[in-house]
Amino acid sequence: MIIGVVKEITDGECRVAATPASVKKLIKLGYDVQVEAGCGIKANFPDSLLAAAGADVLEGGAQVFSQADVLIKVLPPTDQEASELKPDSTLISFVWPAQNEQLVSKLVEKNIKSLAMDCVPRISRAQKLDALSSMANIAGYRAIIEAANEFGSFFTGQITAAGKVPPAKVLVIGAGVAGLSAIGTAKGLGAIVRAFDTRLAVKDQVKSMGANFLELEFEESGEGAGGYAKIMSDEFIEAEMALFAEQAKEVDIIVTTALIPGKPAPKLISAAMVKSMKPGSVIVDLAAQNGGNCELTEPDQKVVRHDVTIIGYSDFPSRLPTQSSTLYANNVVNLVSDMTPEKDGQLKFDLEDQVVRGALISYEGEKMWPPPEIEIPSPPAPTEEPQLGQDSGEILESTANSWVFTTIAAMVGGLLLLLIGRYAPSDFVSHLTVFVLACFIGWQVVWNVTPALHTPLMSVTNAISGIIIIGGILQMSGFFVNASASTATVLAALAVLISTINVAGGFLVTQRMLGMFRKQD
Ligand code: NAI
Repeated sequence: MIIGVVKEITDGECRVAATPASVKKLIKLGYDVQVEAGCGIKANFPDSLLAAAGADVLEGGAQVFSQADVLIKVLPPTDQEASELKPDSTLISFVWPAQNEQLVSKLVEKNIKSLAMDCVPRISRAQKLDALSSMANIAGYRAIIEAANEFGSFFTGQITAAGKVPPAKVLVIGAGVAGLSAIGTAKGLGAIVRAFDTRLAVKDQVKSMGANFLELEFEESGEGAGGYAKIMSDEFIEAEMALFAEQAKEVDIIVTTALIPGKPAPKLISAAMVKSMKPGSVIVDLAAQNGGNCELTEPDQKVVRHDVTIIGYSDFPSRLPTQSSTLYANNVVNLVSDMTPEKDGQLKFDLEDQVVRGALISYEGEKMWPPPEIEIPSPPAPTEEPQLGQDSGEILESTANSWVFTTIAAMVGGLLLLLIGRYAPSDFVSHLTVFVLACFIGWQVVWNVTPALHTPLMSVTNAISGIIIIGGILQMSGFFVNASASTATVLAALAVLISTINVAGGFLVTQRMLGMFRKQD
């Protein structure tokens, strides 16, 4: 099959759906790749690089449209582009079916099999295809860069001979993918960051990024279906806005990302709050496309109101075109790869596959959207320490049970040892006691440790292995004196070998894990 890539024709759109690296991967999957000349130029992927990766560069999009069995692009096709699609071909792009009913009808009419990157279910297995997250991550990063560009001061605090500079204070409203990315970027620049979200599940994530999580004394869960937020009560929004009114007087930068899927963005920053901010402050409204979280946001514009700059751009990912094209192209390749199990350049539509079915908008002349609902588990809320008195009955009962079990097991074990001691030779009894104790302690140490603590556990096992090595060497010393190998010497040599592997392996694994957290130069 031929995969075609065309230039994005919407004004200001700089992304492209394929990069030289993704072209190579598509060719490896058995496809021929054709690209429109100049499609990647704004994302810094010139035709020469795409051609070197193995793509055929064609002059003009019309040729690509007419020949591609699978057309990949970023934005939903315009009416004109949809008319140019080859009948019975496949389209992979953002589609936003709820907002683009006319386009969906056209795709059905033309018998196009269309897969919407914005409809890929947000389940763990599909994370590698999650273009919404890839783009939101970039939007959050870019929001802080835009804010820093407008803000007249450092983000980080400094003490210089010329004076003291306080660190900038940033408030992030909505800690989804974009919000968390904004928090990370602002922290990286040295700002003091605070964040708020209606979903308490994100509290730990916010804290782990070094920001303060602001909380309301208001009992209402913000968890909606599939891990998304739900619309909050008027009382909650009022309390939340009172919190933001206080914060607005203090902070220098506000980044808002509060969204509820399929609904207009909640208005959380009023004109009065904007007025109360310090002159030179900046608001970046990432919800601008859905109506904005700030009353004074103007979609796709940068405006100054009450000496505060309010940025309402909706093309943040396109403002980092190389990165966003790379991530988007990877998401597309991962989808194509999942749908090409034989690596034979033939796209297979497995309608039983949750991910394919979820992304499918039109198929064999039928509208497939919305897909049947699937259960997406919400992320767990932060765990509270069990408090005595709360579920204390249950806790006490299980503790009592385990004590009864341990006592009975100890009594049976003791009786067995007594019986063996009565008839077996004394040497055997002492060795058996050490063996049983070693098994018991080993079991307690390994079994009762939570997986998160396995790395520190490795140090403990390394210490134990060290003791075994010393014991083994002592046992083997007889061999060097008498030059005769008894069974004990052979076993000791084996113990030394296995323990050495354990120690060396432990160091290697620990080294690799530490490497994951080490910053690259
Ligand atoms: P989003 O863009 O729809 O919303 C942004 C944030 O705004 C959310 O965190 C939401 O709780 C918050 N919000 C809504 N109303 C608010 C209000 N009145 N005040 C303050 N904050 C408000 O969300 P996004 O970033 O697309 O992801 C939301 C969730 O989706 C994630 O946290 C996660 O649970 C799930 N997800 C799962 C993925 C996976 O497993 N593949 C990938 C990405 C997201």
